[in-house]
This record gives sequence, C-alpha cells and structure tokens, in this order.
Amino acid sequence: MPLQGQKSHEFFKRAQKVIPYGVSSNFRYGGDHDTLVVAAAKDGYVYDFDGKRYIDYRLGWGPIILGHADPYVNERVKLAIDQGVTFAATQEYEVRVAERIIEMVPGAEMVRLANTGSECTMHALRLARGYTGRDVILKFEGSYHGAHDYVLWSTASGDINQVGDRSHPTAYKQSMGIPEVMRSLVQLAPWNDVEVLGDLLQERGEAIAAIIVEPILGNGNGLMPQPGYLEFLREQCDQYGIVLIFDEVKTGFRIAAGGAQEYFGVIPDISTYAKAMGNGYPVAALAGKKDIMMSLGPGKVFQGGTYTGNVVSTAAADATLEFMQSGKVFPQIDKVGTTLMTGIGDILNRYSLPHFINGVPAMFGVCLAEQQPKDWRDLHALCDWEMLEKIHGYMIEHGVMPEADGFEPYFLCSDHTLEDAAETLQAFEDGVKAALGK
Ligand SMILES: Cc1ncc(COP(=O)(O)O)c(C=O)c1O
Repeated sequence: MPLQGQKSHEFFKRAQKVIPYGVSSNFRYGGDHDTLVVAAAKDGYVYDFDGKRYIDYRLGWGPIILGHADPYVNERVKLAIDQGVTFAATQEYEVRVAERIIEMVPGAEMVRLANTGSECTMHALRLARGYTGRDVILKFEGSYHGAHDYVLWSTASGDINQVGDRSHPTAYKQSMGIPEVMRSLVQLAPWNDVEVLGDLLQERGEAIAAIIVEPILGNGNGLMPQPGYLEFLREQCDQYGIVLIFDEVKTGFRIAAGGAQEYFGVIPDISTYAKAMGNGYPVAALAGKKDIMMSLGPGKVFQGGTYTGNVVSTAAADATLEFMQSGKVFPQIDKVGTTLMTGIGDILNRYSLPHFINGVPAMFGVCLAEQQPKDWRDLHALCDWEMLEKIHGYMIEHGVMPEADGFEPYFLCSDHTLEDAAETLQAFEDGVKAALGK
C-alpha cells in the first residue's frame, strides 16, 4: 500500500511541480507515492494530509528531543522575536546559549554559533586546518557530516563495491559536482578498526589536520564505538598533533546532557552540535578548547554567517537547553527507549530471528544479523535489510514511523510514552508475523 493517501498525494504532486522531486533535501524523497508529507506535528506524533497519525521515531532525523511544537520552547521564541531577530551584532540569547553549552558539555570552553550541522562541520574542519597548518582530514566510512564537499565521501549510502580494500579505502564520491581535486584532501578509514587506523596514521599521520568522528554511527544503525576505540582516537590524535573533532550533531544533547563526551568520558578538541540543541529550530554550535577556538577571528580562521546567532534560533536553544538542565528529559527517554529496545529484542527472540539492537535508548538501531556488525562494511555484509524493511513497512502502514530502511536509528523524545511503546511493540510483532508470512 502506498504511504500517501489521496490528499497527501495531491499535495505532493503540487510540491513536485515547483520543487525538484517535491523535497528540499534529496534524503527525503522516497518515491512518487511513498514520500512522507506532513501537515502538522505535535508531541511524539506527525500527521499527514489525510489526517493519518504516526508515532514518530524519525523526529526530523534527530532534532526533536522535547516533542514536536513544544509549548515551553515556542512560547519563549514568541516572546523573544518581538524585540527583533537579526542584528549582525552580539545579543543576549546567543551568550546565554554559549554559557549553557559550557556548563553542560565537559570539553566546551568556548562556543561559536551557526544554523546547521553542515555549517559547523565545515567550520570545524577549516579551524583544524588553520590551527595545524595541514590540509588532509580523516573521516570514517559510513559517517555523514553534512552537505559540503569536504565530507561528502563514503557516507552511509555509498557504494560498497567501490570503496576498495579496507586497509586502504577508496573515497566514494557521494554527489556529482564535487571537484575531483577534493579527493586528495580526505583520507577514509573503516570505523572501529584500531589496526587499520594505526597503520594509516603511521603512513601519513603528520599530514592530517583532523579526525572527524561520529561517536555513535548515527547514519549506520546506531553502531557503538568498541570499548577503548574513542580513547584510542584521543591517544593517536595527541601523538600526531591531530585535532580530534567529535561530530555530535546527532549525539549532542540527545544521548546525555553533555552528549557523547559525557557518555563515553572522552574529550575531543572540538565538537559540533545542531539538531537536539534547538528542538527543531535551525541552530548549531561549534565548541571546544579555548586555545583552538581562539584561532577563529579577524585575520585568522574565518567563521561567520548573516544568521549565525540569530534570536529565533538562540531563544529556542536557550529554552531547550534550560529545560534539559532541569533534569526532566533524559529519564523519560531512557524509560521508553529501554522498553522498546528490550521489547523488540524479546519479540525477535520469540520468532527466532537473530539480531542485535545497537545504540542507546535515545537513538537505537535494529539489526537482523547473526554476527555483531562493527562498521559500515559489516552492516552491508551481515544484516538482512530486506526483512527489516518489510517489518518497518508494516509498522508505517499501521501508524508507527521508524525510518523504513533501518540504517537511520529510532529517535526518541521526552513526549513518547509507555503507551506509545506498547503500540509500537504490537506493530513490530505484527510486522514480524507479516514479514514471516505467519
Ligand atoms: C552526524 C551529522 N553531522 C552533520 C550533519 C549535518 O547537519 P545538517 O543537516 O543540520 O546540515 C548531520 C545531519 O544529519 C549528521 O547526522
């Protein structure tokens, strides 16, 4: 059954007349009849143009942490915007947000604000290059760090047949239009592989400006770093004078108030934030050690933008982070997320489907496999995505919306309830039965 009902489809046809493929991001296109269109969203739910309600585990791919249309955040934004929104000048909310980030994130000594995760990773990489005087950056296969040419190589949707040998991966170009010359500026490595990374760094560690890493593979089923892996990255960066960048666009203000660096106890040099810090408003931040951050400035490394630190975004972030600091957000997410992770595991056990549940309650992935995948190559080689997509397809048809393909994890928000979890587990079990033809 197509995802779109009649009204949703009519609306999507209208969109397709004026917007290529009817979407403002390639990732959102799922086919002419199966692309999600949303008329409204509230709490843990989204509604399409036919009035169909879905329990939403996509949550805009991570930003919604307090629930859609959160009244606390919206009221604070409404109050703030009456005093003006964009000044090309430092303003109150911007400073408050920077202060909160420094209070919440163990490795944050100074902060610059931006609007999107892509902007922040671009600025972080330029900062690392400026600071070290080196040009090459190292990223991991399967990681996504945004839409710019520095990093659009071998992301989750890369072609597994075109990435070469794991000991010397070939960078897979994710888009037409990226100049070929950019390839020489990026070194790829398989995630979670100490040996290969150690060898690659021995060969060219002194040419590398930054290692950029998603501490949990947020576009790869929520795969966790193996014990000691992030510590190994820290040590290697110290040894070779490389700037360690945690891209916390997904993990930040989601897996803990202090993100992955609090959760894993490893402190990077710089980290990037977006998504959950503004509960859906477009806001992002670059945070890190003072010594490095102070390289951002006139005559040094450039960072800026007309809308960086604007009132709409920063008032939203101020309210979101303040609410988070009250301690009410994560216990609820942990409770519902843990119920789902355990419940899904139990169902898969009952139906004798070998599996692993990756990630943490706030963002977890379901992987149907006999062996635990540890990197992006394993995800392709070991997991039964076709079966998972059938289960998810059934759930979506019945009003529960994880990401269909299962590469992107389930995201939780503090408005999800145990009743939502019960409905979700029922839909999951019915989906398993349907997929197995029972
Ligand atoms: C880990 C990570 N980094 C960076 C980005 C880019 O963020 P944005 O889409 O806000 O530009 C994303 C987006 O999904 C992401 O998941």
